[in-house]
Amino acid sequence: MISIPAIKPNRPIGVFDSGIGGLTVLKELVDLLPGEDMIYLGDTARVPYGARSPETIIRYSEENVLFLMNFGVKLIVVACNTSSAIALPKLQRKFSFPILGVVEAGARTAVKTSRSGRIGVLGTEATIRSGAYAKYILTLNPRARVTAIPCPLFVPLAEEGWVGDRVAKLVAERYLQGFKSRSIDTALLGCTHYPLLKGVIQEVLGRKVQLIDSAVETAREVKELLDGTGLAREKDSGRLRFYVTDNPDKFMRVGERFFRRPITKISKVSLR
Ligand code: DGL
Repeated sequence: MISIPAIKPNRPIGVFDSGIGGLTVLKELVDLLPGEDMIYLGDTARVPYGARSPETIIRYSEENVLFLMNFGVKLIVVACNTSSAIALPKLQRKFSFPILGVVEAGARTAVKTSRSGRIGVLGTEATIRSGAYAKYILTLNPRARVTAIPCPLFVPLAEEGWVGDRVAKLVAERYLQGFKSRSIDTALLGCTHYPLLKGVIQEVLGRKVQLIDSAVETAREVKELLDGTGLAREKDSGRLRFYVTDNPDKFMRVGERFFRRPITKISKVSLR
């Protein structure tokens, strides 16, 4: 196990993702915790993680944590659903400081929200194959009926900005038809990119289905953890710093739609 010296409230929060998508999680974190300094790492050279093997996702995730540790972070948020679903338990065993993923917070809220226990999960291929969301939902409610569907094309659609047109609608109808026969009442958006497609997903599933955004739930959990452990930083405005492993220009251009704020202070880094 790799340990770090005593954790202090003034240290930054580290956040990593396979690329741009984790900015939806960072956005919620900044909204809820405006006084915190945050360091975001987007592994844009190796995105997407969602189509890779568990071994590769674990290796990339460990390298991301090691990079963020250089900044003396007090906590790491694994914003990437794919990394959270596959690598989080390994990361938590290997490193002796708080590392939070997005799976548990999203699953908990889905279980609380669903009246019928019929819950749909959407995610990348790797996330759905891992069964992590379904497993966690079933530990909280063994009678839940989980239907999980991989929706890989949602990632490029969100990055292209094609989120409200006919193309998005057709893709959503095709992916989500599997939920219709299962009468789900709750759908968990288990991927960083899917909040951008909330409108079309809601339209296809109908108003009666509640959408759960893992990003929002994770930010709440991080706040609770910091407040509960005396690690919150009591300042007015925190600083943000961005690191990417490739193509900072694209990250800034596309990322602003995910982050809904300007992205400045960005550097390209190599993780090896
Ligand atoms: N960030 C990933 C996730 O949330 C989506 C993009 C990828 O496949 O790397 O699962």
